[in-house]
Amino acid sequence: MDIVLLGPPGAGKGTQAERLAEHLEIPHISTGDILRDAAARGTQWGQKAKPLMDAGKLVPDEVVVGIVADRLAEPDCQRGALLDGFPRTIAQAGALGELLAACGHAPPVVVSLAVPDEELMRRLSGRRSCPRCQLITHVDELPDASPAVCPRCGAGLERRDDDAPEAVRRRLDEYAEKTRPLIQYYGDAGLLQAIDGNGSVDSVAQRVAAAVGSARNARPG
Ligand code: AP5
Repeated sequence: MDIVLLGPPGAGKGTQAERLAEHLEIPHISTGDILRDAAARGTQWGQKAKPLMDAGKLVPDEVVVGIVADRLAEPDCQRGALLDGFPRTIAQAGALGELLAACGHAPPVVVSLAVPDEELMRRLSGRRSCPRCQLITHVDELPDASPAVCPRCGAGLERRDDDAPEAVRRRLDEYAEKTRPLIQYYGDAGLLQAIDGNGSVDSVAQRVAAAVGSARNARPG
């Protein structure tokens, strides 16, 4: 089964994806992580993507679809994959449908996380990530004595360049204009599981797992 996690910036897609992918034993594919890695390594399209990402704008569809096509063709995706941050436009959703059909897979289960804007701003302004073990955390969760150190592996925590206030505003606008229409698109296709993304990480994880379980039970075979 292939799963798409849909939601605005800061909705908790990455946080939930890490847990769900481990639980379902399928790969977690984050287009944001792949693009950030390419930018850090200075590859040709990483260099093109970096200024767009830092400004909070979407990277062109053809770049992102190419990345996902290559990744889905790898053997570990045969049993399914968890897509975090893709698709983000109607054109990307169409391309994903074609890619999955070409691999003999059913259309994806789409889990959409809804979180109020004020809470999104709170989460993004305090987010910290670990470059070594990929932990995503928040300053409110970190001890006062060592707020810059990863509590899991001890590496120095980083703040994402696109979590600056101006970039966050642009990302929320891009989401509203280009990505939110996917809720209607997947709802019309009968593929959407809409859940409340507010509350503790554990309570949201329970809702996500229940939504995936009910979608799985509703599928033939
Ligand atoms: P991407 O990396 O995908 O960023 P995003 O979609 O903006 O989402 P975020 O990673 O900011 O948030 P999230 O929902 O994963 O939340 P998280 O779990 O981190 O994309 C970055 C950029 O890459 C894009 O702007 C674009 O330029 C480009 N890009 C990527 N994919 C693309 C595509 N398909 N097409 C075109 N361009 C693309 O949580 C956030 C914070 O909240 C953390 O601090 C976390 O600890 C905290 N938190 C999480 N859950 C909870 C909870 N339940 N309660 C309290 N706090 C919580």
